[in-house]
Amino acid sequence: MRILVTGGAGYIGGHAVKALGKAGHEICVFDNLSTGHEWAVLSGKLVKGDLEDRAAIEKVLEEFKPDAVMHFAAFIQVEESVREPLKYYRNNVANTLNLLEAMRERGVGNFIYSSTAAVYGIPEHIPVRETAPLLPINPYGMTKVMIERVLADLAAATDFRYVALRYFNVAGADSGGQLGQAYKEATHLITRALKTAHGEFPKLFIYGTDYPTPDGTCIRDYIHVDDLADAHVKALDHLVGTGRSEVMNCGYGSGYSVKEVVETAKRVTGIDFPVEETGRRAGDPPALVADSSKLMQTTGWKPKYNDLEYIIKTAWEWEKKVRGTRR
Ligand code: UFG
Repeated sequence: MRILVTGGAGYIGGHAVKALGKAGHEICVFDNLSTGHEWAVLSGKLVKGDLEDRAAIEKVLEEFKPDAVMHFAAFIQVEESVREPLKYYRNNVANTLNLLEAMRERGVGNFIYSSTAAVYGIPEHIPVRETAPLLPINPYGMTKVMIERVLADLAAATDFRYVALRYFNVAGADSGGQLGQAYKEATHLITRALKTAHGEFPKLFIYGTDYPTPDGTCIRDYIHVDDLADAHVKALDHLVGTGRSEVMNCGYGSGYSVKEVVETAKRVTGIDFPVEETGRRAGDPPALVADSSKLMQTTGWKPKYNDLEYIIKTAWEWEKKVRGTRR
């Protein structure tokens, strides 16, 4: 199939592009390279463009004629979204509407959407199922709830089908060593811990030790980026094969606390990097762990890398490589 991938030069998008290419799909990446990189596009071609620019989207749809669109392009940092909500509503909501309008105009009706566990806010039951109430506690999560709602309304009203994948905490790097996280500012826990181990930061802060969890730090479900990329390939097959819209969690169902991640990072790297406990970070829910049985049953997806040590090991290999090449 011909797949247009927005944000395909980014961390998750780049891994998905590689997996889609391996699965035999033809790819066109549409990315403004604000956080992505040309080198991350390992399959198909790259069109540099912005989702703010409706004419540019229409042009790429007209020229590439995709069968489906995978939409990764978005801002993703929870804490930043609390400080700068308009930045998030503009890019994640308004720009996604530009894309959907252009798709409707051009008759492209298959859509794979990057949603998030942040839509649940503070879930009552862990692991959380897709049927749990959507009560986000930060603007980032709200932007994703809004678009999920738009997608449901659009699917009800028109010949439009979608799969929204609610990612839990995506981490690790390409098992083949070609891709990994390369944001200018590292804010994610595992990347930040590994960069601290490398000496890029003097210490790692643990944000909050008074959460209602066994060791007082936040619990997250870390999913290897290659498993997530595979979930996209399978979700696409499901969507095009059955024509049925779905919303599905992507995680492993195992939660690790910040302290457990830090201990594992120290063990994997063999470096006892400095850590300081400090206050809570705005917008953080105490625990997010996925029930992904729907994804497995619906698409046949099976986790391959459900192992925190392996996740951190691949991220560490990538960090060492990046440091060598100054990416
Ligand atoms: N944390 C620290 N120190 C750091 C960085 C993070 O203690 O230096 C803590 C955070 O406070 C949080 C946990 O580690 O409790 C995980 O934080 P991340 O920044 O790695 O990830 P988030 O859970 O905030 O968010 C990520 C994505 C979101 C997505 C969410 C889904 O960035 O887009 O996972 O669970 F919605």
